[in-house]
Amino acid sequence: MRRATSIAEVRAAVREWRRGGERVVFVPTMGNLHAGHMSLMEAAGAHGERFVASIFVNPMQFGPNEDFAHYPRTPERDAQMLRDAGCDLMFSPDVAEMYPRGAEQSTRVEVPGLSDILCGEFRPGHFQGVATVVCKLLHIVEPDAAVFGEKDFQQLTVIRRLVTDLCMPVHIIAAPTVRDADGLAMSSRNQYLSAAERARAPALYRALAAAAARLAGGERDYSAIERDGLRTLEAEGFRSDYFAIKCAEDLTPPGPDSHHVVVLAAAHLGRARLIDNVQVRV
Ligand code: PAJ
Repeated sequence: MRRATSIAEVRAAVREWRRGGERVVFVPTMGNLHAGHMSLMEAAGAHGERFVASIFVNPMQFGPNEDFAHYPRTPERDAQMLRDAGCDLMFSPDVAEMYPRGAEQSTRVEVPGLSDILCGEFRPGHFQGVATVVCKLLHIVEPDAAVFGEKDFQQLTVIRRLVTDLCMPVHIIAAPTVRDADGLAMSSRNQYLSAAERARAPALYRALAAAAARLAGGERDYSAIERDGLRTLEAEGFRSDYFAIKCAEDLTPPGPDSHHVVVLAAAHLGRARLIDNVQVRV
């Protein structure tokens, strides 16, 4: 596995592969890799001859009171995991390489509407930071395809929209959420949970699954299902941001013609803010 910290090295390596007719697949991450990330690496390996992973904790997507400084950084362990997974190139730039003018003074990518709802309402500027860094990374790597997890469903939707709107020649591949045995979606932020909180955390997935089961069973009183979801989370000791049912396609409110919906929730448990979602065919 090659390791690059400069944009120029990445471009040179990828262009050489593509000149040789090899398909290049890209997986952007913030590192501290776990089995959820590694499932994306596996999908990347299956979709092309070469795969590139990036590790970059992007300051632009963190709010002023969020965990940028404390976000877990484990670069050597990540490198070993990527090597074992057959990764061809690991790109881990520093902040100055990505934002030479400083993140505050750089051009931004805004995906209106989609960025302002759900997590966007509680994390102002977050999706602008995600859209900007993903756009930059896709321009740097110039992959044939890029893989994103359904765990961050709204992020995936924002990225699909930006790639379409900006006519970027990249195929977006969605990978299913990887969970611990008790249902908790894997996340680097699960480390913020105490043992007692970790034991309670799967209640988030259970609440989403219960809502999905009601929808699959034919119930259509979306507000009642959302209200019950919020109530369940509060009873389990979470402080919830939202519990919402949306169209899976574009995160608009579902109507009578919606056949593919997604139940999404975000809730705080101790120091951790957990997000998860479940898709349902109705
Ligand atoms: P990060 O949280 O490191 O996640 C990197 C990728 O792994 C994302 O596409 C995310 O959806 C996926 N992922 C995380 N946990 C997962 C799980 N349990 N199952 C399946 N996929 C999972 O998301 C980001 O980084 C950043 O916002 C980024 C896109 C890299 C831009 O900075």
